[in-house]
Amino acid sequence: MIKIGPAGIDTKIMLAPLSGCSDLSFRLISREHGARFCFYEMVDANSLIYASRSSKNADMLQCHEDDAPIAAQLIGSDPETMLRAAKRLLERVRPVFLDINAACPVKKVIGKKAGAYLLKEPAKLSAITKTLASSLDIPVTVKMRIGYETPDIRSIVATAKACEKSGASALFVHGRTKTQAYSGCVDYASIRAIKDAVGIPVVGSGNILSVRLAKKMFDETACDGILVARGSFGNPWIFEDIENYLKKGEAPEERGIGVRKKALAKHISYIEKYKRLNVEGKVGVMRKVAVWYTRGFPNAARLRDRLCRTKRYEELMRLIDGL
Ligand SMILES: Cc1cc2nc3c(=O)[nH]c(=O)nc-3n(C[C@H](O)[C@H](O)[C@H](O)COP(=O)(O)O)c2cc1C
Repeated sequence: MIKIGPAGIDTKIMLAPLSGCSDLSFRLISREHGARFCFYEMVDANSLIYASRSSKNADMLQCHEDDAPIAAQLIGSDPETMLRAAKRLLERVRPVFLDINAACPVKKVIGKKAGAYLLKEPAKLSAITKTLASSLDIPVTVKMRIGYETPDIRSIVATAKACEKSGASALFVHGRTKTQAYSGCVDYASIRAIKDAVGIPVVGSGNILSVRLAKKMFDETACDGILVARGSFGNPWIFEDIENYLKKGEAPEERGIGVRKKALAKHISYIEKYKRLNVEGKVGVMRKVAVWYTRGFPNAARLRDRLCRTKRYEELMRLIDGL
C-alpha cells in the first residue's frame, strides 16, 4: 500500500509510464498478469491545448473498464499551460493522481525546456507543482531523475524537498541522470537520500528487470514502491513474479514457448482491437511487441527478420501460430 491520495494505492509494484509502449493493450495484458496499478503514457501539455495531436491523444487516453486504477502524466514547461492541459485531461479521464514529468531525457523535450530539463530549473518545477497541486482536486506527483549531468545528492535532495513543499504527494525517482538516459548503473544511494529527506512516498525506478533487482531496489533505498518499465517488455508475468518473490521468496518459473506464444497472440489481438492507428501503424506496433516476446526463441534472428517483414495482422498471427 502506498499512501497517495485519500484511498491510497493498493500495491507497491506499478507499471511505469512508457511512451510509445504502455498503451491500452499493454496495460490490459500487464493487468492480466498481476499489474494492479498502471500509468497512461505521458501526454504533452501543448498537444492537449492546441489539439494538433488529438488523434494521438485519443489513442493514449483510451478508457476501459478493466484499466483502473491508473495515473496520468503530463510533460511541459510552463505552469499555466500545464494547468490548462491538466484541466483538459481531467475532462477526459479520471486518474488517481497526476504526475509531472521531470525525467524525460529526449532531445526534443529538453529543447523545449521540459522533462529532465526541469531539474536544471528547480524553481520552475516547484512553480508547476504548486500551481497544479493547489488547483486540482486530485493529488499531484513528480517523476524525476537523480541529477542532470552528474549525480549531486545535495542538490537533488533540495529539489525533492522543494517539490514536497510545493504540494507533491509522492515522488517517482529514476536512479539515473539525464545524461545517462537509460543505460549505466542505477544510483541507489541518491534515491535513498531522497527517501530519507522527505515525508511523502518515494517510488524507485531503474533496472527493475528481474525479481532480484526489484528486491534490491527496496533493500537499498527503503523506497515505498517500484516502477516496472523495460522489464515488462514481452514479460507481463514480471508483476506477479515480483509479488511472489517479495512475499514468499519464490523464484519465478521459466515460461515455455507455448505460454509466451499465447500471451503474444493475445497482446497482438488487443492491438488489433484497440489501437487507433491505420493498418500500417498497427502492424508496426505488433511487430515491435512480437520481437519482445520472441527473444530467446530458437533461431531468434531469423524469426525476427520474418516478423519484421509481415504486413498484416492475419499474416503475423499465422506466423506466431506456426512457431
Ligand atoms: C521506451 C520508454 C518510454 C518511456 N516513457 C516514459 C514516459 O512517458 N514517462 C516517464 O516518466 N518515463 C518514461 N520512461 C522511463 C521509465 O518509466 C523508467 O523510469 C526507466 O525506463 C527506468 O526503468 P528501467 O531501467 O527499469 O527500464 C520511458 C522509458 C522507456 C524505455
